Amino acid sequence: MAAELLRQRISTRCFTDDAVPYPLLREILDVARWAPSGGNIQPVRIIAVTGAEKDAVVALAQTGLAQGSPPEYGDRPVYPERLWEPYRSRRRDVAVDMYRLLGIEWDDEEARQAHLRENFRFFGAPVGLFFVIDERMGHGQWAHMGMLMMAVMLAAEEKGLATCPQEAWARFRQSLKAQFHLSATEMVYAGMALGYADRSAPVNRLRSHRIPLDELIEFRGFTR
Ligand SMILES: Cc1cc2nc3c(=O)[nH]c(=O)nc-3n(C[C@H](O)[C@H](O)[C@H](O)COP(=O)(O)O)c2cc1C
Repeated sequence: MAAELLRQRISTRCFTDDAVPYPLLREILDVARWAPSGGNIQPVRIIAVTGAEKDAVVALAQTGLAQGSPPEYGDRPVYPERLWEPYRSRRRDVAVDMYRLLGIEWDDEEARQAHLRENFRFFGAPVGLFFVIDERMGHGQWAHMGMLMMAVMLAAEEKGLATCPQEAWARFRQSLKAQFHLSATEMVYAGMALGYADRSAPVNRLRSHRIPLDELIEFRGFTR
């Protein structure tokens, strides 16, 4: 079952506006909270928004974009500066595939930006999740946050829902901190769109690649 869920989950970038029933959302998050964390410190909390609360966050982002406000990554940028190979090419490859499905030419910077802005509408999803961590936490705890995010995505998948993890929201870290009245040391790592996939949308046909198993793993001491 886990194998099936892992293979079928994708980042969904176009949602229907069908609402996610609150009890169902609770059920998904109630499963996901069993994700492990080192020392069981459970360093992450999630803020879930829908309706007017989601609209307020979307408005915050749209205003920021319209005003050309500077990115609010702070000391935790989404990627290292000037990504190097092979990572640079992997990132480009999936983007090329995505824009092809969207019918957007690589050179059409304006159309690409317009698609990127869809992040800040949660790609039309009815629910937005924000993953919040104390900025005093280190790399280890950020890794544990990834486990929680994965758990949410798989639990949602099992219930027929779709997700898109969204580091894009890091662009509005400070604004979100104010919006959610986070404590002095808390920060938003990333967002996540959650809802029902629009199966007619070409972008949702995107299937990203993975490096081969033997490139990913160095098997030592095994008998083949
Ligand atoms: C932590 C994290 C943050 C991501 N942030 C974004 C994002 O801001 N916008 C987006 O469109 N996709 C985002 N993605 C999706 C990745 O591009 C995607 O996972 C990757 O290309 C592999 O594709 P798949 O999820 O369909 O398997 C993110 C993925 C992860 C794991």
